[in-house]
Amino acid sequence: MVRATDFLLLLSLTGCVVATFPTHVIYQSPTPIILENIAVRPSSKLLVTSIQSPTLFTLDPGAANATLDEVYTFPNSSGLTGIVEYKPDVYAVVTSIFNVTAAAAIRGSVVIWSIDLTSGSPVARPAARIPESTLTNGLASFPGHPDLVLASESYLGVVYEVNMRTGAVHVKIRGPALAPGPPAPPAIPIGINGLHVGLDGLLYFTNSLQGTFARVPLSGGAVKVLGDLGSFTHTDLYDDFAFDNKGRAWVATHPGALQLFIPLANGTWVQRTAVGDLAGSTVLNVPTAVAFGRGGALEKRTLYVTTAVGQIVAVDTGAKA
Ligand SMILES: *[C@@H]1O[C@H](CO)[C@@H](O)[C@H](O)[C@H]1NC(C)=O
Ligand SMILES: *[C@@H]1O[C@H](CO)[C@@H](O)[C@H](O)[C@H]1NC(C)=O
Ligand SMILES: *[C@@H]1O[C@H](CO)[C@@H](O)[C@H](O)[C@H]1NC(C)=O
Ligand SMILES: *[C@@H]1O[C@H](CO)[C@@H](O)[C@H](O)[C@H]1NC(C)=O
Repeated sequence: MVRATDFLLLLSLTGCVVATFPTHVIYQSPTPIILENIAVRPSSKLLVTSIQSPTLFTLDPGAANATLDEVYTFPNSSGLTGIVEYKPDVYAVVTSIFNVTAAAAIRGSVVIWSIDLTSGSPVARPAARIPESTLTNGLASFPGHPDLVLASESYLGVVYEVNMRTGAVHVKIRGPALAPGPPAPPAIPIGINGLHVGLDGLLYFTNSLQGTFARVPLSGGAVKVLGDLGSFTHTDLYDDFAFDNKGRAWVATHPGALQLFIPLANGTWVQRTAVGDLAGSTVLNVPTAVAFGRGGALEKRTLYVTTAVGQIVAVDTGAKA
């Protein structure tokens, strides 16, 4: 769907002036750390994971001098990937013994934990294991199914359905559109990466190596590619994304951009660069994941972006570009 405000945005984004939404670095780690994923609590506080730490961190984006503080440190783990709130203030988190150089977990080490933050102190338990996985990457909630989460496996090219109550895991969707490649293999063959169920009940996902943003019915069936990074090199990669309240997808794109996918009335989607660019901008330095704020009007239009250089950047998506 396209609304008047989207048209203004399209016009401004296609004009000669390079448009970008205002950004603000709210956190810079004093030591190098690859931040990987992000969730926003009902309290407006952020939860942040890193592939280089077994600790789930929190950050108060409203604090004058925000710090990353420990929420919980998972045992038998060296790094965390996806995080999603699957029940109010209860989160699923992917933990593993993660080799950052290889961008892969040791087989057998991938455990999806549940961490309940509804009381004063975190209550964590291992909920499910994925023994064959070496990169369980993104997590998504499954609307209407409060015990289930969906997990992307970037090397195997599958979406798992994970039952957080029983620990049951099964392959929900598999196929070439989720797998890494073709085209030419780079060093790290990551296929499906970010995933979210849209308001239409379809599963939307990015495929990093194929450079696609696509959707597929959760019952399986035909994949529809909605946009791609076709003309770019393989140092450009789509990562995680978030939908805004207009159904537009904001996609973290390596090495330095947010790509905005806007659904049009005729069912096609247009893609625009909303922040940074694909040619060396460091406004966002390897953005890995995004999540919208919660709380007041300003929070709700603020998109928080984690980056591989230890920054968290706030983007005002409601400001005129
Ligand atoms: C901000 O926090 C950092 C890390 O705790 C500290 O080193 C620094 O002095 C603080 N800056 C201000 C202005 O409070
Ligand atoms: C951690 O790993 C050890 C050795 O494999 C195992 O005995 C223990 O149960 C694990 N702990 C948790 C919390 O999974
Ligand atoms: C991590 O992966 C790299 C590259 O594949 C490999 O050389 C290294 O031995 C691995 N480290 C461990 C601790 O397994
Ligand atoms: C959909 O609408 C857009 C904007 O009006 C137009 O540019 C595009 O060609 C249309 N695509 C199709 C397949 O109708």
